[in-house]
Amino acid sequence: MSTYLSGIQPTGLPHLGNYFGAIAQHIELPKRGGEHFYFIADYHALTTSRDPAELRLRVREIAITYLACGLDLEHAVLFRQSDVPEVCELTWLLSTVSGMGLLERAVSFRDKVEKGIAPNIGLFMYPALMAADILAYDSNFVPVGVDQKQHVEIARDMAGAFNAAYGQTFVLPDVLMSDNPKVPGVDGEKMSKSYGNTIWMFETGKPLKKLVGTILTDSRAPEEPKDPGGVLLFQFLRLFLSPTELAEWEQRVRRGGDGAPGYGHLKQRLIEALEAHFEGPRRRREELLADPGEVERCLKRGAERARARAAATCDRARAACGLR
Ligand code: ADP
Ligand code: TRP
Repeated sequence: MSTYLSGIQPTGLPHLGNYFGAIAQHIELPKRGGEHFYFIADYHALTTSRDPAELRLRVREIAITYLACGLDLEHAVLFRQSDVPEVCELTWLLSTVSGMGLLERAVSFRDKVEKGIAPNIGLFMYPALMAADILAYDSNFVPVGVDQKQHVEIARDMAGAFNAAYGQTFVLPDVLMSDNPKVPGVDGEKMSKSYGNTIWMFETGKPLKKLVGTILTDSRAPEEPKDPGGVLLFQFLRLFLSPTELAEWEQRVRRGGDGAPGYGHLKQRLIEALEAHFEGPRRRREELLADPGEVERCLKRGAERARARAAATCDRARAACGLR
């Protein structure tokens, strides 16, 4: 039986990139069997967060998002990373067998430094903590977007280094990419909280209309025939429309001429599709917001199951390296 694990940082509202790149897969995978662990990476968020009240709110928001989207808690464990402090100990054990170069090569760390962020030690250690998360549950597969691929490879390297030093202790994980590993933002760059180009998955009404309005287009007239591959809006529409409907819109845009849809039409269709896609989860989210006790109960149950598993792995690693 395979084990699947993934985490999401509570650093902002979950956006379409998080949903189609990660969350949607996390909801679907448990339906096909296997063991599943999904968690809210609040330790990781501390590398950038400085507002305790906001962090608590964000953690709850991610938990509610999973529950509202229908994560089946019979077949998946949903928990808060910090409810399993064993991962901090594992981070240390892994860091003692791993060369500095492994983390110095991490692209996401280097990107942040290049952007002028003064990095704290936690930010540098970020992939080591992520490796501990992955290895603590003997994960075989890590379903994430393409931006996290290198981090999973680092986890694999750290597991290999520990096993080489002390004998078989950790399972080597593999990345599992979704069908939508890189959803674009409204500006055509990768959608990301840190780029300010996101659409919150539960956005609705006027704010949604306004946001969709900002999706990058050009000044070509509707009549002008266009390659749909060069129209950013189609990268959004393909997430929501049936293949048949998508093909029809593409054909009309490719053909151009009288009656061809303009960007305004495409945006209108996207708004309708988005509203419809998340209508059920949006309603469920409202109910959960009004019932914080239920969300806490779910996280507490998840923490107990996750911690038991991580503690066993941590004991194994302690014994292997001679801590007892
Ligand atoms: P962000 O880049 O907005 O801070 P996170 O780092 O919290 O997002 O990512 C949480 C999960 O969502 C990860 O599995 C990540 O790979 C995935 N993800 C984030 N942005 C995108 C995107 N634009 N397309 C596909 N997947 C994404
Ligand atoms: N670094 C991941 C992100 O920003 C979050 C994360 C932390 C994670 N630990 C993990 C993802 C373990 C997968 C597995 O998206």
